[in-house]
Parts: sequence; C-alpha cells; structure tokens
Amino acid sequence: MFKLLGITIFLFISSAFADGHNNYIYKIKEFEVPLDHFNFEDNRTFTIRYLWNDSYVNREDAPIFFYTGNEGDIELFAQNTGFVWEYAAEAHAYVVFAEHRYYGKSLPFGNASFEHGNFGFLNVEQTLEDYALLLQHIWETKHVRGPVIAYGGSYGGMLAAWFRMKYPSAVQGALAASAPVWQFNGLTKCDIYSKIVTSVFSTVLSENCSLNIRNSWAALKSMFGTDEGKKQLNGIFKFCTPLGKQEDLDDFMDYLEDVYGNLAMANYPYPNDFLAPLPAWPVRAFCQYLDKIYTVNSELIQAMQRALSVYSNYTGSSKCLDYKSAYEPSMGIDAWAVQTCSQMVMPMCSYLNETMIRDKPWDFKEYSDKCYNKYKIRPKLNEITMRYGDKKLDASNIIFSNGLLDPWSGGGVLQAGYADIHVIIIPEGAHHIDLRAANKDDPSSVQQARKQEKDIIAQWIKEFYDN
Ligand SMILES: *[C@@H]1O[C@H](CO)[C@@H](O)[C@H](O)[C@H]1NC(C)=O
Ligand SMILES: *[C@@H]1O[C@H](CO)[C@@H](O)[C@H](O)[C@H]1NC(C)=O
Ligand SMILES: *[C@@H]1O[C@H](CO)[C@@H](O)[C@H](O)[C@H]1NC(C)=O
Ligand SMILES: *[C@@H]1O[C@H](CO)[C@@H](O)[C@H](O)[C@H]1NC(C)=O
Ligand SMILES: *[C@@H]1O[C@H](CO)[C@@H](O)[C@H](O)[C@H]1NC(C)=O
Ligand SMILES: *[C@@H]1O[C@H](CO)[C@@H](O)[C@H](O)[C@H]1NC(C)=O
Repeated sequence: MFKLLGITIFLFISSAFADGHNNYIYKIKEFEVPLDHFNFEDNRTFTIRYLWNDSYVNREDAPIFFYTGNEGDIELFAQNTGFVWEYAAEAHAYVVFAEHRYYGKSLPFGNASFEHGNFGFLNVEQTLEDYALLLQHIWETKHVRGPVIAYGGSYGGMLAAWFRMKYPSAVQGALAASAPVWQFNGLTKCDIYSKIVTSVFSTVLSENCSLNIRNSWAALKSMFGTDEGKKQLNGIFKFCTPLGKQEDLDDFMDYLEDVYGNLAMANYPYPNDFLAPLPAWPVRAFCQYLDKIYTVNSELIQAMQRALSVYSNYTGSSKCLDYKSAYEPSMGIDAWAVQTCSQMVMPMCSYLNETMIRDKPWDFKEYSDKCYNKYKIRPKLNEITMRYGDKKLDASNIIFSNGLLDPWSGGGVLQAGYADIHVIIIPEGAHHIDLRAANKDDPSSVQQARKQEKDIIAQWIKEFYDN
C-alpha cells in the first residue's frame, strides 16, 4: 500500500462531508486555458469547468465571490459551501466555483492525465494562473469589474490565501477557512495533527476513550498473533476481506487512523451524510462506547467494533467492513497524490507515548523514495515556503479561520500580528464548518465567526467601490 495516501486522503475526504442535498443551482461553463502558462513555445490548451450563478446581482460590476477549487469535483464543494451562497444572496454577488485542473472533469488529457509525461502541468502556480485568466475573461465579457473575494476551505483555503498574495490587484481579499498554510517543513511540528486528534478524543467524554484507542493497537496485534485470535477478529468486525497477512492488519490499522482523523474533522453539531453517514457530534457518539477502561483484549476489541460502527455502519446497512477500499473510487486521489509528491509536502509524524496514534517518525527520504517509485518524481520539501512565504505573512486582506476541534488547525494561522491579516478562532468548530450553510444547531462561536467574516468582507468590498 502506498502509505503516503494515508496523509493525502485526510484533506480530500474532509471536503466531502456533504449535507446529502443538492441545494444550489448554477450553470456549468467551460473555459479554455493554456496547458502550460509559463511556456510560450507550447500552445496546447484544455478546458477547465466552472460553476456560475449571476442571479443575485443587481449591477454589472457586482462583487465576484470566487471559490478557488479543491482536490476534487467542484460540484461537491459548491454543494458544501453554503456560506458563499448565503452571503452572495445578501451581498448581491456573482458566484463562481472554479474547478482545479486535474480534478473533476477538468482533466487536460482525459483518462490519460495521470500517465507519465502528462501530470507535470499540475501545480499551484498553473492553477492560480488558470483562475486569474478566468477572472480576466469574466471582466472582459462584462466590460466592467467589481471586487473579487476569494473563498476556499482546507487546500482550497490555501489557494484562496495564495491567490490574494500573488494576484493582489485581481483579488480584493480572501477567506481561507481551515487552511493549514503552515503545515510545511520547519513551520509546525510534525506531530501536531496526531496530538489534536488525541486531544479531541480525550476531552469529549473522558480520557478513557483515547486510552482505549491507544491500547487497541497492541490488543489487535496480540489477537492477530494467534489463529484463535485472528478468527475472533474476523468474527467481530465482519471484514469484507478477512485479515490474513500482516499487510491486511497494517491496512486495517491505517484505516482506523484515517477514521479517527475523519471523525475529528467532521465533528459537526448536526448529522451529515455523504461518504460516511454520521450522527451529530460523531466523536462523542464514538467515545460513548469506550468510556470505561477495558483490560481484556477481546472485550476492548468488541467495544472498539461498536464504536467504529458509528462511522462505518451508522445506517445499519453495511454488510461487511471495507477497510481496504474506503477511498479508492474518488477521482481526486491520483491528482492529490501527485501534488503531495511534488510541492505539497506536509511533514506528518506521531508518537504513541504522547498520543493515541501509532509511532510514525517523519522520514523525508522514505517519502521521497515512495513518490519516486510510484510516479518517477521527487518532491521538493521547501518549495511551498519558498514561494508563498513562511510565518512572516507579508500580505493583507486575508482572513484565516480555524476551528479548534479540527486536527488541521495545528498547521493553521492562529496568530498573525498584522493589522490586515484577520485571525478567527472557532473553539467549537471542526474542519471549515464556517463555510458550510447556516444550521440551527450551529454553536454560537460558529455563528459569530460567520458574522465577523461577513463584516470584514463587506468592508473590503466597500473599500473597492470607494476608491
Ligand atoms: C442561482 O441560484 C438561485 C437560488 O438557488 C436560483 O434560483 C437561480 O436559478 C440560480 N441561477 C443560475 C443562473 O443558475
Ligand atoms: C501551435 O504550435 C505549432 C508548432 O509550433 C504550430 O504548428 C501551430 O500552428 C500552433 N497552433 C496555434 C493554434 O497557434
Ligand atoms: C475514460 O474511461 C471511462 C471508463 O473506462 C470511459 O467511460 C470514458 O469514456 C473515458 N473517457 C475518455 C475521455 O477517454
Ligand atoms: C474510566 O475508566 C475507569 C475504569 O474503567 C472508570 O473507573 C472511570 O470511572 C472511567 N472514567 C470516567 C471519567 O468515566
Ligand atoms: C451493520 O449494522 C447492522 C444492524 O445493526 C448489522 O446487522 C450488520 O451486521 C452491521 N454490519 C457490520 C459490518 O457490522
Ligand atoms: C516520546 O517519544 C519520542 C520519540 O522517541 C521522544 O522524543 C519523546 O521525548 C517521548 N515523549 C515522552 C513524553 O516520553
């Protein structure tokens, strides 16, 4: 198994916790872009998609709310970013959701986009240039231009922030929600993600939950070590692929760690159902089954199974537990793996003595070798910080919002100290909850964050028209 994917998938999945409804309506348009913006000799082009809604505007030079894409099909993100729609209706703005190249249907070489020789045009710089040209195209068709506000969540939030930094005359301001722009080499400790996941599971009810999870790794290994125990494990979890080889156990343990991260990211106050139907506050629902310490391995594992069902079988319709292919079909996985193997190197590690997550040191050489074996490319460890800056944020008009329940908040901007960089902390917020549609169960800290964001953006828009 390509373990790198363990890291990469977190971002992708998070974006996919949809409401399960198709609430928003738009036209799907196409825009032709150069394949390689930075090469005048190569005149090949392809088309990216974007979603367009101009029904809210009341003037040609209305503000443009421009969502900067993500590592997946753009329609999924449009349906999960209710805040942009709700605020566009209030602010009489155009709504544009741009699809990131190499994702969704914006594939330069169709099905062959991830064949060797074809994926070299996938990077942040080419993508931002696509967006800048799309804006120019929109202005040309309108003959006037209003202010542009960039929006994004997670990786999309990084793009929104960088779009404002690199194209300040095109973009008036950016809301970067749950954007771990400091999850790069030398800026943040590599174990911060696993520490936050652990703290979320330790505090929701009692520390017993994370202590049980921490003990479960040895329990699993010990049971797996005997034929009788292996049989028991297979009986308890009803795996689609029964545990046989050591590799199966490793895959299952990787799956469990992914689940813990996903539960923390999707720890929203209301049920949501898309890839995994989940109850409200799913970490609490999970930990309810692990609230006392189990000292007998088989009892611990049985309790773990009941807890895991909150994630894997909430609807009760799952026939077997599929720990192997949980993420396979998603289109964005290939492209995101390529990005993590080129520019988007976010060092990750964990230590079982300090967290509930297994020991995993950060080993860049190993990471790089895996990339090379899979894609024949080698990642550049410091490219993002070289291009987009480190903790000295020489920028303005950016809002960085982070929910403290979100494991990615560790790599986010929680303190800036610059007047034009706004930091919004949402104590009860999981992964970019502020970008989601308003919900009656939203805690007041989420409601307040949205109000603050609107006030700041309204001020940017006013400044544009006043000048
Ligand atoms: C924009 O969204 C509104 C509200 O959902 C909808 O009524 C309208 O048809 C949409 N406009 C376009 C151009 O899709
Ligand atoms: C693209 O470049 C090729 C090779 O230089 C040239 O033959 C072709 O006419 C160019 N196409 C366009 C549309 O400019
Ligand atoms: C890509 O593959 C899918 C499934 O095999 C097929 O339906 C589709 O037509 C192919 N698209 C292109 C552009 O070749
Ligand atoms: C944690 O588990 C221990 C042992 O099962 C139990 O005595 C204790 O009450 C639990 N703590 C909480 C806060 O539930
Ligand atoms: C899912 O839940 C249903 C209903 O409780 C149960 O019958 C089924 O065995 C569960 N599936 C798995 C894989 O545990
Ligand atoms: C946990 O292990 C790591 C790596 O071996 C070590 O650096 C760290 O000091 C340990 N922490 C504690 C609390 O023992």
